[in-house]
Amino acid sequence: MKWVLLLLVCLAGERAQAQKFEALAKTPPMGWNSWNKFACNVNEKLIRETADAMVSTGMQAAGYTYVNIDDCWHGARDSLGFIHPDSARFPSGMKALADYIHAKGLKVGIYSDAGDKTCGGHPGSRGHEYQDAVMYAKWGIDYLKYDWCNTDKLSAPGQYTTMRDALATAGRPVVFSLCEWGNNKPWEWAGDVGHLWRTTGDITNCFDCVLDHGTWKQWGVLQILDMQDGLRKFAGPGHWNDPDMLEVGNGLAPNEDRAHFSMWAMLAAPLIAGNDLRSMPANVGAVLMNRDVIAVNQDSLGVQGFRYAARDSVEYWFKPLKGGEWAMTVLNRSKTPRAVNFAWANEAVVDSIAKLQPSFATTRYALRDLWTKKSAGNTARPLVATVPGRDVLMLRLRKAS
Ligand code: GLA
Repeated sequence: MKWVLLLLVCLAGERAQAQKFEALAKTPPMGWNSWNKFACNVNEKLIRETADAMVSTGMQAAGYTYVNIDDCWHGARDSLGFIHPDSARFPSGMKALADYIHAKGLKVGIYSDAGDKTCGGHPGSRGHEYQDAVMYAKWGIDYLKYDWCNTDKLSAPGQYTTMRDALATAGRPVVFSLCEWGNNKPWEWAGDVGHLWRTTGDITNCFDCVLDHGTWKQWGVLQILDMQDGLRKFAGPGHWNDPDMLEVGNGLAPNEDRAHFSMWAMLAAPLIAGNDLRSMPANVGAVLMNRDVIAVNQDSLGVQGFRYAARDSVEYWFKPLKGGEWAMTVLNRSKTPRAVNFAWANEAVVDSIAKLQPSFATTRYALRDLWTKKSAGNTARPLVATVPGRDVLMLRLRKAS
């Protein structure tokens, strides 16, 4: 009997500890990550300068918080198995770097892998999960992206749950970002494990293409967008679908940057910039810091948007917002302009998952264009517009008094 009681107490203790940090990521995380632009070329100078630029460009004021170091920061494990950063790239150490970033009111992210090696061939966390979590807490890490290379035959729920529990035990609140590319359908099991999970393989800086590397592929913006079908019901405050980090400013045309950013906002996707903030042109900054578009992404209702209709290469997306408002984005996927005529009163837009519905036949909504920042009339008359190729018309709908 005594033993049974002891066992129960132990199990209860386990369960109490085995939780992700619930209060984090109530809206999709916003920040920056080194990978899309710099790949393995990371060092403390780049990270410090990026933190400086987060502040000086206005990115921080627009809501971007996390400065995330991706793969290749690692040195070796010491004789006790603890991980240390590469001392040539990070001579001041991770704690000093984190202190520098925290002093600006920003937060710090780091990267590891569930296997024994990261995708870049550096030490992974397998078998060292608790040690690594302790080290990250000691350094002051706030966000962990946890990759899935070199995990042959391992169980994804098992590996990610182990790291979640390690982070919980280390005790420092950490946003836990699962990066297993959607291979094991994390949306079905990771709601209690992490705050966001990648839904696809890696993005690349192209609007409509697939890069085939033989054993793996990289996907363009439209390809990734299409892979989100059916996933929206799994997202919500504290647990988001992650269609990968932004390629805004990494070589897409200005219209493509705008469309990419608008669609990630509609998807309630994490907004993790992936460009060089130290030399960001004004037109790129204007996309990443469009506060009206960010507000759609960060809306506290936390509902991922949906494709309502697709007609002649043009898609009509809707996202319910708090207070009975809606965001609508008209996406022209083609390279050439498309004329649009959307007769509100004839359209039966219904969000069957959030159980919300704008009643265009009986209610008039005022329209605001979130890119031109101008009024676009109201829903009493059909929306008549021309959307340029690979571009969007993005509106916010508010009940007219
Ligand atoms: C994987 C991830 C990328 C990046 C690299 C780093 O490909 O999906 O986002 O983290 O590894 O090696």
